[in-house]
Amino acid sequence: MAEKEKLEVLLKVKEKYEPPKEVVDRAWVKDYESLYKESVQDREGFWAKVAEELEWFKKWDKVLEWNYPYAKWFLGAKTNITYNCLDRHVKSGKRNKVAYIFVDEDNNERKITYGELLELVSRLANGLKSLGVKKGDRVSIYMPTTIEGVASMLACARIGAIHSVVFAGFSEGALRTRIEDAKAKVVITSSYTKRRGKRVDLLPTVENAIDGLEFVEKVVVWDRDGDTLSGDSSKFVEFYELVNSSSPECEPEEMDAEDPLFILYTSGTTGKPKGVLHTTGGYMVQTYFTSKVVFDLHEDDIYWCSADIGWITGHSYIVYGILANGVTSVITEGAPDYPNPGRWWSYIEKYRVNVFYTAPTAIRLFMKYGEEWPAKYDLSSLRILGSVGEPINPEAWHWYYKHIGGQRCVIVDTWWQTETGAHMITTVPSYPAKPGKAGKPMFSVEVDVVDKDGNRLPPDTVGFLVVKTPWPSMLRTCWGEPERYEKYWNTIQGVYFAGDLASYDEEGYVMILGRADDVINVAGHRIGTMEVESALVDHPAVAEAAVIGKPHEVKGESIKAFVILKKGHEPSENLIEELKLHVRKVLGPVAVPDEIEFIDKLPKTRSGKIMRRILKAQELGLEVGDVSTLED
Ligand code: PRX
Repeated sequence: MAEKEKLEVLLKVKEKYEPPKEVVDRAWVKDYESLYKESVQDREGFWAKVAEELEWFKKWDKVLEWNYPYAKWFLGAKTNITYNCLDRHVKSGKRNKVAYIFVDEDNNERKITYGELLELVSRLANGLKSLGVKKGDRVSIYMPTTIEGVASMLACARIGAIHSVVFAGFSEGALRTRIEDAKAKVVITSSYTKRRGKRVDLLPTVENAIDGLEFVEKVVVWDRDGDTLSGDSSKFVEFYELVNSSSPECEPEEMDAEDPLFILYTSGTTGKPKGVLHTTGGYMVQTYFTSKVVFDLHEDDIYWCSADIGWITGHSYIVYGILANGVTSVITEGAPDYPNPGRWWSYIEKYRVNVFYTAPTAIRLFMKYGEEWPAKYDLSSLRILGSVGEPINPEAWHWYYKHIGGQRCVIVDTWWQTETGAHMITTVPSYPAKPGKAGKPMFSVEVDVVDKDGNRLPPDTVGFLVVKTPWPSMLRTCWGEPERYEKYWNTIQGVYFAGDLASYDEEGYVMILGRADDVINVAGHRIGTMEVESALVDHPAVAEAAVIGKPHEVKGESIKAFVILKKGHEPSENLIEELKLHVRKVLGPVAVPDEIEFIDKLPKTRSGKIMRRILKAQELGLEVGDVSTLED
């Protein structure tokens, strides 16, 4: 950002909300400031102490090796994350404690204990082994948020296979790209998922996505109604047939702390998604610790994260970090407001949920339905409310605080990314929260707000959010594309550039203002403008396309596309619908533009780069800014 483009932050949020005494009294962290100070003075000592709370087959020789921009954590240590998520609890008397309460849209409930989950995971892990899956092999998982979906992830981790979960709302094209890039040996899917009372078939999508991909050897299908698989194809194996025919004992694979755990694809500024790679030890330690201190989890807590396992929030805060703490979680499949906008609140009442973690877009959706919906239910069990995925606007913050939290809960607004693996900036439940500001850095994490040359900016000035030092759960590389990994660390020399705009105030609270790059945040889903543009250009009528994000009342941002048609094609309403359908097919419903406008020319730089910034400024009636590089 050029010096002259720096904006004064107008919104100086002065309000502060003190955490209730009952919450502070039991909080793991009582004195944030002194622990933070300690954690940056002795980063390695700090994380070593946290790591001691978990089990290792062999302890580390060294906590950190920082060879800029590559970090290794807990060098020489051996463990298995599933051992810490499952066996550790089963062995310490929690065999019969419920790990997950799963509820579908029809309110069918299924509970699974830590003991049962360990058995399911072990059987499935043995099943995968019998299909030839070995340590280091990739397995793509295309499953709804269900016990079977979670078990699939854990089964891979059990045997050291690298999972790549693909959000089940993505379509064929997006799934194929991800399976191809990871060269997955096995795909695990479900016959269908349900959304808004309708069956959404997943198996046909997988069948099309793997068409011609010889390296996919097997597809494990959770045939939910037992009526989908005909049994004549040698490539398809039924999930529970595999589970039931496999042994319930599976020794956890001894994983080096730096052995890969999973790949998760996320959007960047090119058309191709990046395969963010996380490894075992550091990821385990930081997700465990942040789950514990940010959600302030205690033995008897009922926790609920409304995310999907297809995103990083599901990985870190439905599966790994949460199981590592051994609490009971609620998981749900389907839409938040179906069959009615009371669905979520009824579960908080029924299961006496203490900690609830959701996204601002969901809060804004419920604001539109009105506070009479949550008012029908007893939400008094809640103690901590979390927010993630996008900035929470102060209006939504206040609504969440008042109508869900009954003005007695702490709100933790957690800033982090697929790349960071775990919480990086957030309020912890022992110091006051400021609506609209995420809070202060996580322990040992050093963040700053800088200009493009890396110079620190004064308080209340908008700049680039950077992280100055390595943290345990940081991404280690981008799958097959180390140069894309290095870009995080050399765009602004010497620091990790997160891609976000932010400011900090006199008291050190960080406010996140959104993305600085060509990434759009639609209802908490991260979508690259280039991905949508490529999907549009893939249609035979389209010559060129440019995509921007526009502010949207509920979704945060919505997608608008500008399209230049090829000769011989005329703009029409029908064509707009056809293009939307096309994007839906290539990428999935989340990436479909709300608006498509046909134009004759796109603003470009002399080197041919589309200046989306200009389209956006025109669309929103804002000042266009510096146009010196504009071609025409
Ligand atoms: O722009 C930030 C926004 O989401 C981006 C990361 O997206 P993703 O990798 O999909 O992970 C989402 C879940 C962690 C960030 O670069 N973001 C995430 N959390 C917040 C946020 N923006 C503001 N406040 C947050 N709490």
